Parts: sequence; structure tokens; C-alpha cells
Amino acid sequence: MAFTATMLGWGLVDFAEGQETAGQMDYGRATVKWATDYFLKAHTAHFEFYGQVGKGTLDHDYWGRPEDMTMERPAWDIDSKAPGSDLAAETAAALAAAAIVFQEVDPQYSSEMLGVAQELYEFADEKREMYSNSITDAAQYYKSWSGYGDELCWGALWLYRATRNDTYLMKAHEAWDEFDLGAGAEEFSWDDKKAGVYALFTLLEPDDEKYPAALKEFLRHIREDMPYTPGGLVFINKWGANRHAANVAFLSLWAAKQGMNVKTNRDFATSQINYILGDVGHSFVIGYGVDPPQKPHHRSSSCPWPPESCLGYQQNPGPNPHTLYGALVGGPDQDGNWVDDRLDYVHNEVACDYNAAFTGALAGMIETN
Ligand SMILES: *[C@@H]1O[C@H](CO)[C@@H](O)[C@H](O)[C@H]1NC(C)=O
Repeated sequence: MAFTATMLGWGLVDFAEGQETAGQMDYGRATVKWATDYFLKAHTAHFEFYGQVGKGTLDHDYWGRPEDMTMERPAWDIDSKAPGSDLAAETAAALAAAAIVFQEVDPQYSSEMLGVAQELYEFADEKREMYSNSITDAAQYYKSWSGYGDELCWGALWLYRATRNDTYLMKAHEAWDEFDLGAGAEEFSWDDKKAGVYALFTLLEPDDEKYPAALKEFLRHIREDMPYTPGGLVFINKWGANRHAANVAFLSLWAAKQGMNVKTNRDFATSQINYILGDVGHSFVIGYGVDPPQKPHHRSSSCPWPPESCLGYQQNPGPNPHTLYGALVGGPDQDGNWVDDRLDYVHNEVACDYNAAFTGALAGMIETN
């Protein structure tokens, strides 16, 4: 959720013109604020932050509307004794990015977020641990496989961008060296932010050639070394292949905007976004374009209107009764096959992080085309 908010914020900051042209700026700010209000509430004391509500297995076992849920919903926090650097630093990144989004329209909200972002960063940096070792129920679902080094660097860079306080730039350099972040990125995702670090360093340390070189090499690696589906989607991971393509499309458009390999980056991003929007004969975005998905693996939109029970609606052969407008579904397998099937969650799941960089990439497409 924090990565989602960071990426929405980034798209609003660096593709502001595209967002304005599309008339999405106010919606974008409201969406970011939905997340950041929650983060501010979840920060309940000094070095105390709630990172999970609900038990993974219990939530997964339930198919129905969120407002009908009656199962146990325990909440877990991180604190000095059971810390979580990846969680705290990514939330710091989200609040810092959002602070930039709100700097002019709501300076008070912006500075409130910055204050919490700085404390969360200090927490992440001083009490080092993987959050999934503290909130152990998260390990099965959202463990940061890449560790917390990338989040420490990325959080510091967002804080430096928002505050221009050199301490954070120094922290970013320290994390870069300590965690050897210059190599090994195979995706850009809620787990692994190394490629985002290359981009932010490119912007914030313009005299150092190694950062744009790392970004260029990452984008080349993705474009040239990864497999593609027959229809042209870069296939980074079978889980939400569309989302991975959209995430690298965002970075490619961002790089193009900085003047880096402009045509190559723009053409690649355009091919990926157009694939998602319908180049293979149908759209992967619910409620949009030609023959879009109608049976996403999404609980509440699959339920009928209350008071009718949602029981059995996971197996309903018909379309979801409600249209989850704008949600991006997982996508095809490596051979390009995709079936609109609610039970096939690998290819039909929707998720907040699936739509985050995708939204910014669409704004980037408006700007660069
Ligand atoms: C910069 O950030 C550090 C770490 O949070 C803080 O101790 C320091 O006071 C800040 N400096 C300024 C000028 O705000």
C-alpha cells in the first residue's frame, strides 16, 4: 500500500502536465490522501506504526463484501522491540512524495506528512529489521524478498527531494554502498525499488554518471534480455505480468522525459501500454476499451446487491454484477494466453499496486506522445 501511494505521488509530481490534461489531478490527490490519511492514523506513537489489519488466511478464505466481514481482524504494529525497516522506510517514501504533491495546495497537511515521514525514516534506519520478522503474518504474502536496503535508500531519496536536507542525501549514499544497490535489479515493484533509486539519484545527483548509467542498463536489460509474449508484452513475472510491464513503462517514460534514449524508451513504453489497453484485440482494463475483463478475481464487485448473499458468487459463470472501473487485471501467461476467469487469480487478480505506476505511465503517455 505504501509503494502504491509513493508511485501515485510520483506520477502526480513528475507527470503533472499529463494528469492535468486528462483532468485527473484532483482525483489523483484525493486517491493519494486516502492512503496517506490512513498512514498518519497508523502512526500511533514515537517509533510505533501499524502495518497490518486482518489475518491473511482468514481474509483469503472469505469471499464476500468487506462490509459484511465478521471474522477476527487483529492488528499488528512495528515498534522499537519488533521493528520493520522496509515497512517504515517505504511509508516514509510515500509520505514524502505526498508532501511534494500537497506542498502548494495544502501546506499544513504537507508539513504534517513530512514530520511523520522523517520520524518513520529514523525508525527504519535506527532499528533495522525486516518487518515480516516482526509482523510474521505478513511473511506469507508481502515479504520484501529484496530486503530493506532498497527501501532505506529510496525513502532517503524521497525525503531529500521533499526537504533538500543533505542528511538524507548522505543516508541514501550510505545505503547505496552498504547494500550494493547498483546491480541485480530484475523488476521494479512493491518489493524491489532499486530501479526507482537509479531514477531518483539521476535527478538528485545530476553530476554523477553512474546513476543514469544504472537506469539505462536496467531499462536495456528489461527490453532486451526478458522474454516477451507473442503479442509483445515483456514478461517479467507470471504474477501480474501487466503490472510489471506497466511499472517499467513508467520508468521508461520518466527516462524519456529526462532526455534519456528518448525514442527507444518511448516506443517501448508505448508498446507495453497499448498492449494493456487493447492491441491484442481486447483490453485488460476493466470497464475500458474493447471486450474488457468481466470476471476479475475481486470480491466485492463479484457480489450481487445486498441483501442477497454473496455465497457462491466466486463460482458464478457470469460477469461480475458490478464494474470495477479502471482496474488492471494480472494479464497473460508467457504464451500470451489469457482467459477471463475469476477463479484464475494469477491472471485475473486486481491490486492497488497493479494500478499505481500504470496510472502515472498513462499520464506520461499523454505528455510524450
Ligand atoms: C536534517 O535532518 C536531520 C535528520 O532528521 C535532522 O537531525 C536535522 O536537524 C535536519 N536539518 C535541518 C537543517 O533541518
